[in-house]
Amino acid sequence: MPQPDQHRLDADALTLEGIPALTQDALEAIAAAQDLAGLAAVRTSVDGDKAPLARANQKIGSLDAGQRAAWGKAVGAARGEIRQALERRERELTESFEQAALAEAKVDVTLPYDRFVTGARHPLSMLIERVSEVFVAMGYEVVEGPEIEAEWLNFDALNIPPDHPARTMQDTFFVESAESGLVLRTHTSPVQIRTLLERELPIYVIAPGRVYRTDELDATHTPVFHQVEGLVVDEGITMADLKGTLDHFAAAMFGGQVKTRLRPSYFPFTEPSAEVDVWWGERGWVEWGGCGMVNPKVLRGCGVDTDKYSGFAFGMGLERTLMFRYGISDMHDLVEGDTRFSRAFGVSLS
Ligand code: DAH
Repeated sequence: MPQPDQHRLDADALTLEGIPALTQDALEAIAAAQDLAGLAAVRTSVDGDKAPLARANQKIGSLDAGQRAAWGKAVGAARGEIRQALERRERELTESFEQAALAEAKVDVTLPYDRFVTGARHPLSMLIERVSEVFVAMGYEVVEGPEIEAEWLNFDALNIPPDHPARTMQDTFFVESAESGLVLRTHTSPVQIRTLLERELPIYVIAPGRVYRTDELDATHTPVFHQVEGLVVDEGITMADLKGTLDHFAAAMFGGQVKTRLRPSYFPFTEPSAEVDVWWGERGWVEWGGCGMVNPKVLRGCGVDTDKYSGFAFGMGLERTLMFRYGISDMHDLVEGDTRFSRAFGVSLS
């Protein structure tokens, strides 16, 4: 019977002197484990039943007494050290796993609360409501007209004949075909004619709405914009009524301290005509809209007895009104529909 080599446990070619290196390798493998699954694999190879030190342990009993003590001590110490290292590493990995999970689940209470933005009413819609309230309080009615308008109502009935420069000055979008007689209304003034033709006198109306001109979008222009038209026809209406009404309107829009002025101008449908300017601080006087006494030619064209009745009319830009009211200097903000802009106006314009 071959004598077993007392210095070498042959199955694993392990020697007493080899134990520190084996232990060192095991400790390094443990330290290198990056997660609990990796550590479990290392545990099997360094401390499982088939690990060299476990097998050595099983064989110690078969050694002779002289060897047994030395092997027992060395193997026991090595296994103890390895187990401690395994436990320590397991605690470390468990802790960092928990910390990572916690960090991931952490709630940042400073983040915006509404990630699903619900939108906001556009300041123009709110302005139209506000303007309507101001005039309704004075006894006016709010009326509307179509955006695709008869060329005749947009121009001719307003005393703007086909060869009139205003017709080309107001760069018009025509609706195909050229003979259709339809345009995208270039102003809200055709609502004056519709009202005069449809309603009984006296008339006190405003007509807010969308209008179109072939302008490029830039800081101060947009091809689609809004106006509010006003029309009053009654007995004894004078320019003083117009001025008083516009002053009240301006104060409601821009505050009681606002400065306005009427500057003589020309519109075919009013006589006399004026432009209304608003004082906008460093920018000086800026045009707010046009106005005047309704041209008797227009009134007569609609069957109004001009010996008895007279009237005034005005048309103000609503984008301009918003710009003065809030100091908005770029038209893009008004037309791009970014709710971050609209939301800044809150829910009330009062
Ligand atoms: N319709 C004119 C424009 O768009 C504005 C205007 C001027 C309207 C005078 C009026 C008015 O009612 O009386 O430029």
